[in-house]
Amino acid sequence: MGCFPCAGGDSSAKKSSKNKRIESTQNDQSDAKIAGMYTIKVEQCNEVKKENPQIVNHTSVSNRVVEKTKPPEEGSPMNKARTFTYAQLLDATNNFKAAYFLGEGGFGKVYKGKFEDSDQIVAIKQLDPNGLQGIREFVVEVLTLSMADHPNLVQLIGYCAEGEQRLLVYEYMPLGSLEDHLHGHRPSRKRLDWNTRMKIAAGAARGLEYLHDKMNPPVIYRDLKGSNILLGEDYHAKLSDFGLAKVGPLGDKTHVSTRVMGTYGYCAPDYAMTGQLTFKSDIYSFGVVLLELITGRKAIDNTRPAAEQNLVAWARPLFRDRRKFWQMADPVLEGEYPVRGLYQALAISAMCVQEKPNMRPLIADVVTALNYLASQKYDPLTNPVQASRRSSRGQRSIDENKPDG
Ligand SMILES: Nc1ncnc2c1ncn2[C@@H]1O[C@H](COP(=O)(O)OP(=O)(O)OP(=O)(O)O)[C@@H](O)[C@H]1O
Ligand SMILES: [Mg+2]
Repeated sequence: MGCFPCAGGDSSAKKSSKNKRIESTQNDQSDAKIAGMYTIKVEQCNEVKKENPQIVNHTSVSNRVVEKTKPPEEGSPMNKARTFTYAQLLDATNNFKAAYFLGEGGFGKVYKGKFEDSDQIVAIKQLDPNGLQGIREFVVEVLTLSMADHPNLVQLIGYCAEGEQRLLVYEYMPLGSLEDHLHGHRPSRKRLDWNTRMKIAAGAARGLEYLHDKMNPPVIYRDLKGSNILLGEDYHAKLSDFGLAKVGPLGDKTHVSTRVMGTYGYCAPDYAMTGQLTFKSDIYSFGVVLLELITGRKAIDNTRPAAEQNLVAWARPLFRDRRKFWQMADPVLEGEYPVRGLYQALAISAMCVQEKPNMRPLIADVVTALNYLASQKYDPLTNPVQASRRSSRGQRSIDENKPDG
């Protein structure tokens, strides 16, 4: 990534360290404020206590009850998350059978599961007590997702906080993560075509818009990356993993001061250097994801030559020269993309990854632009320009300065 003198993205490593996480030791003044008016009671929250005794009232989770300072109104989103016993989750996953294993991240292992009393398939994430994340992330995840309700955010069905066990139960996303599709090694997997990429980008942007502009209080996501964009039927994108989310600056404040946390390659340089988190930090990360979708490259790729390892650093000089835009299109697309659409998508990405946060666009504008791009369906068969490009398998066969219609 562009912001830390540190390498990341070692795909041979265990999943949890695949995208290297950033965690500074700076004091975090506002962790778990997402809990807001909700008080959740708890037994095992030593980790949270150690770091910030003031927030304990707002961040602990009981295995039995979620108490709130104000009772939720009938039908309020806080009513949605169910509590599960550990025995129920053992049952649902056949004792966490290896065959049910879906993947692993910094929080722990993820398994597919099914409850006897319903047909719904779920994904169950089990906190690894020795993992990179802890109770704080568990609590913030439960609180954020309990308050959120949007088609582009993964649904939290419930959680289990029994004894030392901490597990999260989500809706199952059958097509896995965007990262798997772009950078995974399953040869059988269909390549993502241009229309699908724009659809995913627009869906992820709408999820982020909900967090920034529709939630009350607004939320900064802080962990936008390919592995946290999960895909449902027909490549419907949903954001997942809200353990690092923060309530955005309130009143006339412009930022929240926090410990620097996130993932190398996606973290905005301004946030990494100052610890000042803003909505524009998420916009930067979104720009990196959009660039991954366009180029098929990883945010950080240590297998490439030095000048190409950091995706944004590689892209910056190319952004300045329209004639070089074609070099940024994913070769896997074999030229099957609309030239104008490519230009527009690159322009959005370039604006999002600008060094100066206040030069980056608001998410609402990104959504408008990407909704438009996603609505412009590209058909390689009825596009003679692209067809000739396809026949030359990726070679330039058109005047790159003439966008197609
Ligand atoms: N709701 C879900 N439905 C289907 N698969 C899921 C679901 N949640 C997670 N997975 C799978 O489990 C993998 C691990 O997810 P997890 O969120 O724990 O880690 P990550 O996002 O890859 O890494 P990090 O901890 O750095 O965020 C994902 O890549 C995905 O393949
Ligand atoms: Mg994740």
